[in-house]
Amino acid sequence: MVDESLLSILLQNPDEFMSGEEMSRRLSISRTAVWKQINKLRGLGYEFEAVPNKGYRILVKPDSLDQLTLKNALKTKIMGADIEIVKTTVSTQEEARKRAEQGAAEGTLIIAEEQTGGKGRLGRKWFSPQGKGIYMSLILRPQQSLKFTSQLTLLTGVAVCRAIRRTTGLNAGLKWPNDILFNKRKICGILLESVVEDEFVRYCIAGIGISVNVDAYDYPEELRDIATSLKIESGSTVDRTVLIAAVMEEFETLYTLYQQEGFQPISLLWEALSISNQQEVIVNTHQGLREGIAIGLDPSGALLVDMGMGEIMPIISGDVKLK
Ligand code: BTN
Repeated sequence: MVDESLLSILLQNPDEFMSGEEMSRRLSISRTAVWKQINKLRGLGYEFEAVPNKGYRILVKPDSLDQLTLKNALKTKIMGADIEIVKTTVSTQEEARKRAEQGAAEGTLIIAEEQTGGKGRLGRKWFSPQGKGIYMSLILRPQQSLKFTSQLTLLTGVAVCRAIRRTTGLNAGLKWPNDILFNKRKICGILLESVVEDEFVRYCIAGIGISVNVDAYDYPEELRDIATSLKIESGSTVDRTVLIAAVMEEFETLYTLYQQEGFQPISLLWEALSISNQQEVIVNTHQGLREGIAIGLDPSGALLVDMGMGEIMPIISGDVKLK
């Protein structure tokens, strides 16, 4: 095990050198123990600049996700308090479900470097190439009835959208119910699954997939025109650890607000980030595909579409297309 506090003190002032002596004094461990810890960090992919009489400073942080660095970056109390990072799995949704059934606490986060069967909404697949995206599932235990869980999908979208804007400066926007788009191409998808008992939620799994450092050549033909990544759009590699920490922070703030004040403030935030507001959309209805203008959310989280002639239709499931 690497001592968490050794990494914390090196990460606190990443540009400054810290001597072995100073580290051993601050951590109350021997110089040999410091040296051993530095070597363990090297094994995890960290690279250091070591200068005689000055000490060490971090040159390269590993590209792979590791628990220690992530824990260091997290400023939350509940969301991500327990984290598990797996190298590869079929789907983090299934991993999280297993942990939830075993009693894992609210806020437990399962992250994978790669998914071999990443799940999307409506039976679709989620493209999950190794080391290039964020594929994570968050366990939630809201004390509420099933009919409110669609609000949690929207809340998750707001949290991720705000985190993406904050960490990359990209003006990503939301498309009902749960897609995050940039330049009309999908950058993130959210899949919220609930397990209920007598109409009440036992737990929810909020699955979040973000295309972070996927390169254009990685995408299979069928996704090239409809998907994009933060790296493609911003022109530089995005630190996944920083983005995960930002998502957890935004999520915790919004979830607390939701528990205290209900859906209304979340709905306002969602509408402000929506790219479909007052736009022409095509919706799938009982009468087939119809066109209308998206005008906002109703109190349950359904999308309100003005079909003309005074007809306002709430859309509660399925997809909408932007015209
Ligand atoms: C969608 O837009 O259709 C939803 C995509 C959700 C993908 C994420 S990736 C992490 C989690 N594990 C999965 O298998 N799916 C979700």
